[in-house]
Amino acid sequence: MNPLQIHLETRLAKGPVPAAEVMALALYDPQHGYYRRAEGPWGFEGKDYYTALDLGPLLGQTLALRLEAAWERLGRPPRFTALEPGAGRGWLGRDLLNAVSGPFAEALVYLHRDDNPAARKAAEAALAPFLATQRARFVAESDPLEPFLGCVFSNELFDALPAQPWRWDGERWTREVLTAAGPEWQAAEPGAAGAWFAAHSDGLEPGDGSIWCDGLPDLVHTLAVPLQAGLFLTVDYGEAAARLLAKGADLRRFKAHSVDGKWHEDPGEADLTADVDFTRLTTLLEGEGLDELSHVELSKWIRTHAPLDAWGAAWMTLPAAERQGRMENLLQLTLPGQMGSRFRVLEGWRG
Ligand SMILES: C[S@@+](CC[C@H](N)C(=O)[O-])C[C@H]1O[C@@H](n2cnc3c(N)ncnc32)[C@H](O)[C@@H]1O
Repeated sequence: MNPLQIHLETRLAKGPVPAAEVMALALYDPQHGYYRRAEGPWGFEGKDYYTALDLGPLLGQTLALRLEAAWERLGRPPRFTALEPGAGRGWLGRDLLNAVSGPFAEALVYLHRDDNPAARKAAEAALAPFLATQRARFVAESDPLEPFLGCVFSNELFDALPAQPWRWDGERWTREVLTAAGPEWQAAEPGAAGAWFAAHSDGLEPGDGSIWCDGLPDLVHTLAVPLQAGLFLTVDYGEAAARLLAKGADLRRFKAHSVDGKWHEDPGEADLTADVDFTRLTTLLEGEGLDELSHVELSKWIRTHAPLDAWGAAWMTLPAAERQGRMENLLQLTLPGQMGSRFRVLEGWRG
């Protein structure tokens, strides 16, 4: 039997377990967690889910332009560090490093920070040429981060943090818990989460709900403090606080490329994810001294920053299959209803 299921059943015999604790166990149990297994179900191709990086290099190429602009704005420092927490297989770092050239490429050092062992193995292969020339390095999540000039960027990091669903039932706040009989919504002390939700709604309707991520302030602090000057950039699922409340956000389970709400089933065998509250992320970054904070749909960010006319002309010279791949990558990141409209990009600056 699934070892995490056995562990959960022991816990459930003592009382309900909040959904966020189930998510923490399922993803990060040091031995059996979905993101801590040396190998196994964790994965992308033919496995549970894919991210924007599986669609092609366009995200990394656009990111390269944003980072180069940040380097220019910082006065072209000789060393520009790009720290990627939650870097997974290192594909975004690889696409970034492949896309840069000239003096910026000489200044750029990429740091991969993610303790996921299966991802780390894949990243060693993806980043091999850059590791060999010290343009890329691995840092452990427990390593202290030295102060640097450059950028902190992430793709689908914050949506992988343990998160607690909350719902307004018309009279009180409830939170989702797992009981021996299955998931239930139980009355809860609103605390900091309730205060935040109340401050970000114009009158709640029964069924309104959102996600509260307890670990968000600490992680934002850990990542923002070493950034002495430069860009903070995050790509993730999610919405502004008021929209999430109206939507009634929940936890999602990804398994074999299908998505459902069965977050309590198969712990450690499926990916769990939650919408990111971009209003809260912005507020926390402001508290860390970042400014110029804003977030837009990924599709708009690509259309704003990628020189699509020039790239389109260059793609015409590629072999047919590669040309088609680039076009599909572009369409998936820019067409309504596709990945580019489900994600948002947040940017902030420390000057
Ligand atoms: C959904 S995956 C995204 C991986 C990659 N960015 C991509 O787009 O393919 C989330 C990753 O975040 C990592 N992660 C979660 N919390 C983290 C933290 N505090 N610091 C660094 N990585 C973390 C997990 O181990 C997992 O590999």
